[in-house]
Amino acid sequence: MSYLKQAQTGYPIHELIKNRWSARAFTAAPIPQRLLMQLFEAASWSFSASNTQPWRYLYAHHHDTAAFSKLFNCLAGGNQPWAKNASALVLAVAQTQTPDGKPQKWAMHDIGAANMCLMLEATANGLVGHPMAGFDHQKATTDFNLPEGYEPVVMIALGYLDTPDTLIEPFKTRELAPRTRKPLVEFVFQNEWNHAPSML
Ligand SMILES: Cc1cc2nc3c(=O)[nH]c(=O)nc-3n(C[C@H](O)[C@H](O)[C@H](O)COP(=O)(O)O)c2cc1C
Repeated sequence: MSYLKQAQTGYPIHELIKNRWSARAFTAAPIPQRLLMQLFEAASWSFSASNTQPWRYLYAHHHDTAAFSKLFNCLAGGNQPWAKNASALVLAVAQTQTPDGKPQKWAMHDIGAANMCLMLEATANGLVGHPMAGFDHQKATTDFNLPEGYEPVVMIALGYLDTPDTLIEPFKTRELAPRTRKPLVEFVFQNEWNHAPSML
């Protein structure tokens, strides 16, 4: 049986946000190509500064063995033991400079927002997704021949949730650990910034 880590919230929030979480245990089921495209469609409907849409995605299905391995080989040692079972791996790349070399200051903001749209669409369709900054960014840049002005940001493991028992330690324990968040008082300020040392 799969394992759901629904957020325990102080205020009622939408089910979709509560149910999204960064799982590590994936079944062997492939993601239909059309559904994968649906996730990228969702990402594209994110907002972005001046509608620059600075996101680019490179993906491989697990069954496209060589292409999957090429992405997988960029992953850090701490991610490979569980991400190897993902049904698809995605490399999210931000266009951080315009073609004439000007910085796109909000590119990181915008790709994060697009990634969340992708993740929520995944959640709504019974998938789980796990973003990872733990990969060799230089290797990804070289291996995928990323153009000047484009930066790899995260890789995303996608698939259908399996039971935590399929994971080795320490990943099983992490999979079972409750999800936690700072309380709102630590990051939401009404009218004035809270300068208390405990807030830094
Ligand atoms: C930019 C970014 C990088 C992350 N890198 C990794 C990673 O390399 N390995 C990993 O296991 N989780 C990684 N995560 C997942 C976070 O640890 C996870 O989102 C966080 O603990 C909150 O858990 P939740 O997504 O289940 O709510 C990353 C998340 C983000 C947004």
